[in-house]
Amino acid sequence: MICLGLIGLGQAAQILHIPNIEKMENKFEITAVADISKNLTNYIADKYRVPHRFTDGMDLIGCPDVDAVMVMSPGDHAEFAIAALEAGKHVFIEKPMTSSLESLEKLLEVKRRHPDQIAMVGYCRRYNDSFMKMKELLQADSRPISYVRARTIILEGPWYLDNTWHEHKADDLDPAGRELMNRRMFEEIDRVLGGNTSHAQQMAYLLMTASGCHILSAIRELIGLPKAIRSAVVSPNGMQFSLVFEYDNFNMVFEEMNDQEIVEFDEAIEIYQGDRKMLLEYDTPYIRYLPSKLTVSELDCGQAKTTVYGPHYHDMFANELLEFYRCVTTHDTPKCDVFDAAEDVKLYIDVAKMMK
Ligand SMILES: NC(=O)c1ccc[n+]([C@@H]2O[C@H](COP(=O)([O-])OP(=O)(O)OC[C@H]3O[C@@H](n4cnc5c(N)ncnc54)[C@H](O)[C@@H]3O)[C@@H](O)[C@H]2O)c1
Repeated sequence: MICLGLIGLGQAAQILHIPNIEKMENKFEITAVADISKNLTNYIADKYRVPHRFTDGMDLIGCPDVDAVMVMSPGDHAEFAIAALEAGKHVFIEKPMTSSLESLEKLLEVKRRHPDQIAMVGYCRRYNDSFMKMKELLQADSRPISYVRARTIILEGPWYLDNTWHEHKADDLDPAGRELMNRRMFEEIDRVLGGNTSHAQQMAYLLMTASGCHILSAIRELIGLPKAIRSAVVSPNGMQFSLVFEYDNFNMVFEEMNDQEIVEFDEAIEIYQGDRKMLLEYDTPYIRYLPSKLTVSELDCGQAKTTVYGPHYHDMFANELLEFYRCVTTHDTPKCDVFDAAEDVKLYIDVAKMMK
């Protein structure tokens, strides 16, 4: 049994992780929760009968009844992750892991000193069954890749969440404090991107590290890092951007848009390999237990053939938690560990710098 401490009790905790943790009652027990909102902390601690409650994540990390910490607060997660590792705990870090190269280096240095503790990053799309099937088919086939395109067109507001899960919101946070945190966040982004950044560039960086990062990381797992970033074009409000990455013999294009008026979530990865095209669609960022599928179109004895793999019913958030459990209990290294995620952090910064 792994005793879990949860830091940050908002949407990710309430909608993505706590429901799965509750179901895995023979693997995990929530022994501590922490949020800067006292009301929200009390609500979650009472609802799930959690013995220890804190309004400071550092106090939770020091709690002796916690074996592993899940970091689900906003912003840069390095400080909590470092403290958890230094305190001898395993850590599951929601993406994005860190926002600056300095905090990234500190985190990696601490992880190197704690090789026996697991430090896993929550790139849930990479634990989706259809994604894993796509990778398996890609590795088993010698047809060279000729083109890759991918997108994250995001709407995840009322159409999704209000119809599926109830989220209890913090109602006791000081608006001036929130305002200050927001301002600091933009100042930090400006610093990380080298100063003199436009608002559009900052917004696009936030968008990419909040949602596009899933697909960019998934693509890196499938085909590796690009040789070069050829173009990164951002819209005036920073809510849309288009990227072209150069690989050895092909290009990869990625587009992202956040438009809360679109009544459809549209996220996909398409890989072209001669006569074969694989299409992986993620129908939802959040709705739980919707099956996923992989569609493969190719030539078979001169005839067009389409094969659908799936529907796959495993929930990707459950898959990633099971992987965290497996690694903590077997001392295996998760594929999405901090060293793997470091590649993404550097890529996001390089991309955002080109968005000027
Ligand atoms: N894997 C995914 O698909 C996915 C989806 C959503 C969010 N996330 C990630 O999860 C993290 C949280 O996102 P969210 O949507 O839950 O945000 P949220 O704003 O809904 O919740 C964050 C919570 O953290 C609390 N908080 C803020 N600062 C804190 C601190 N210093 N210590 C403790 N608590 C603090 C806030 O009061 C709030 O309750 C982000 O890193 C986000 O990128 C991942």
